[in-house]
This record gives sequence, structure tokens and C-alpha cells, in this order.
Amino acid sequence: MKIRTIDGVDVRGKYVLLRDDFNVQIVDGKITDSFRINQSMPTINALRDAGARIAIVAHLGRPKGTRNMEYSLKPVAEYMHIPLIKDCLDKDFLAGMHDGDVVLLENVRFYPGEEENDSNFAQRLADGFDLFVNDAFAVSHRAHASTVGVTKYLPSYAGKLLASEIEQLDAVMSQPARPLVAIVAGSKVSTKIGVLRALARIADKLIIGGALGTTFNYACGARVGNSLFEADQKDTALEIMEYCRQNNCEIFIPLDKGVAKEFARDAARTDKTFDEIDDDDVILDAGALTTARDVETIRNAATVIWNGTVGMAEWMPIWSVGSFEIARAMAEQTRAGKLKSIVGGGDTVAALEACGVKDDISYVSTGGGAFLEYIEGRELPGIVALAA
Ligand code: 3PG
Repeated sequence: MKIRTIDGVDVRGKYVLLRDDFNVQIVDGKITDSFRINQSMPTINALRDAGARIAIVAHLGRPKGTRNMEYSLKPVAEYMHIPLIKDCLDKDFLAGMHDGDVVLLENVRFYPGEEENDSNFAQRLADGFDLFVNDAFAVSHRAHASTVGVTKYLPSYAGKLLASEIEQLDAVMSQPARPLVAIVAGSKVSTKIGVLRALARIADKLIIGGALGTTFNYACGARVGNSLFEADQKDTALEIMEYCRQNNCEIFIPLDKGVAKEFARDAARTDKTFDEIDDDDVILDAGALTTARDVETIRNAATVIWNGTVGMAEWMPIWSVGSFEIARAMAEQTRAGKLKSIVGGGDTVAALEACGVKDDISYVSTGGGAFLEYIEGRELPGIVALAA
């Protein structure tokens, strides 16, 4: 789909409503992961340099249409050194803006009209602006007032980040260098059925890991102890395995797991194959055999797409081993010029960051749910609204 981009549009002196995804992790009022903000800067800087008067509209968390200050964007405004407009429908500030000024509007999800994509709310949000730029790929799978609704009232364009996400993901999905390996992990099969099927159609190899992988092991009759998995997704897992076979996609499910006797970050670790797993074992990471196989598979790939950590990667160093080994292998091969690597999803990107290899990956998407839906081939409403 061709979309209208902001490149070449004269924005000098224009009031621009810019949608960014600043749904970032904040701990004790401080931003702990600025990736999405950093990735949004090229568009902000380009608009600023071109003399636009920019009001950024964004959300944080899910305040459910109420003014819950726990979800205030104040820490983001402070981090960016820009003023925060305390109500996204307040337009008084526009009169005082000069060319190149940038402000941040308070959390748009403080109003129920945002998620309801209420046309009256969208119109009030758009009021006073000359044009709309959507640079929030990560929330473009939501048909909300600030992603879709406002496009009915303002000439609308994609920003640089949104355009680059689409370009990168389209390239890997349509003409990937082969072998193409997809690694899909995380917790739930039920949220990833669509993406697993889509990847089965295009990938040469599909590695399944994490609790999602445990569900596949369970479906194949393996012992999984007292672990997190979805018993009710057994048939789905078997169907996906069959679907892979029909599509000549080799599927790899876990061979062994790192287990403990309790669900705790400092629990003692043992690596066990499935026939060794006891009823009171809790799976917390991929096992050494699985990790070695996955690393070898990555070394023989030309393209790898990765979403979802294969264990409790945030419980370093004991339970991050499997995810970090995958991250390092991808980074190493990419650095050597042998691999195009694409990673998406908050936890997965956090794992790259934690083991210090994020900059070595060919493309890191800002999207979580949006990344999965895009890979799945679904049309994202926020992007459709920008169709040329
Ligand atoms: C995300 O973090 O993936 C996006 O900002 C979307 O957030 P949501 O799932 O709360 O709509």
C-alpha cells in the first residue's frame, strides 16, 4: 500500500499535530527505556528544522478514559525538555507558538473518546491544526481518534519512523534473503496464532520457544511439570505444526529446558530434557541443548526475524541465558555481514539492550502488537488511513 509521507510537504509556520508512541517504561518517575522516544526524534527534528509548530499527541499505558495521573506524560516531557500541555483538548497554547516550537499534549487516553475513536473527540483534537503526521507505528494497529479519527479532519501524512518501519518490514516479508529463520517465543500461543501461520508460509525454519514452546512440547506429549503453558491450545499447536509441514517450513520446538523448583529470579537452575522433568519443576528458560541448536540455526541463516524471549530474560543472569545467546548470535552474524536481523516486541528489544547488542541488529522495530500484526499481513488502521 502506498502512503502519503511528510517528505516534501511545506510545513513552515503550520500547526502540526504529530502522533508519536511514547508508551515507554517509567519507573519512579524516570524513563528506563527511551528507545521509542529516540526513534521518534528524526521526524520531530525535521519538522522543527522546517519551521513547523508541533504539538505531539501520545498515550501512556491504559488509563481507561480517566485522568489518572499515574499515567501522566510529564516524565516524557521532562526527558525531552519540552512543555507539557496539561489537557490535550486545550488549544490556548497554539496562539503563543513560534516556528520550530514543540510541545507535548497530556495523555490522550485520559479521554474515553480516544479509544472509542469518537468523531466528536477526534474533531476537537484536530481543531486548530493545519495537518496531521502519524509517526506512531507502534500504535497504528489501534483504530483510535489520534491514529485514525483525526485523519478525517486534517490532511494526513506518515512520519519518517512510520515510513521506515513499513519499508523495512515489507522488504523482509516480500524478498527475504534465504534461509529465512523466524524465532517466535513469549508466553501465549493464543496471541500469536496469526503470526505463526504467516511466518510458516514464508520462513524456511520456525523456532518456537518460551512458554509458547512449552505448549508445543505439551501438545507433543512431553512432561512440562508445574510450568506456565496453555493446555487448551494443544490442538492449535498441533495444527500449526501440520501447517508448517504443508508449507515446507521446518519447525523446531524446545529440546530441553532450564528448570527450577520455584518461580523465582535466584532459584537454583538445572537443565533437563523433557523426560527428566518432575511434576514440581518450573520451566524458566530454554535449556542448553535447545540454545545450542538455535544458535547453530541462526549461524546458517541469511535472515532472522525474532519476537519473544525464550525465558525469563529479565531475571539476569540465571534465566536470561537462552535469550541472550540468541541475541548475541544474531548480533555476531549481523556484524560479520552474514545476516539481516529483524527484532520486534518490547521484551525482546529489552533483552537486546540488556545484553548490549541492540545496535548490532539490522532493524529493531518500535512495535510490539503492531509489529506482530504487520508481519501477519493484517492492515493496520492507522496506516490505511494514510493511503495515497
Ligand atoms: C504498545 O506499547 O504496543 C503500543 O503503545 C500500544 O499500546 P496498547 O496495547 O495499550 O494499545
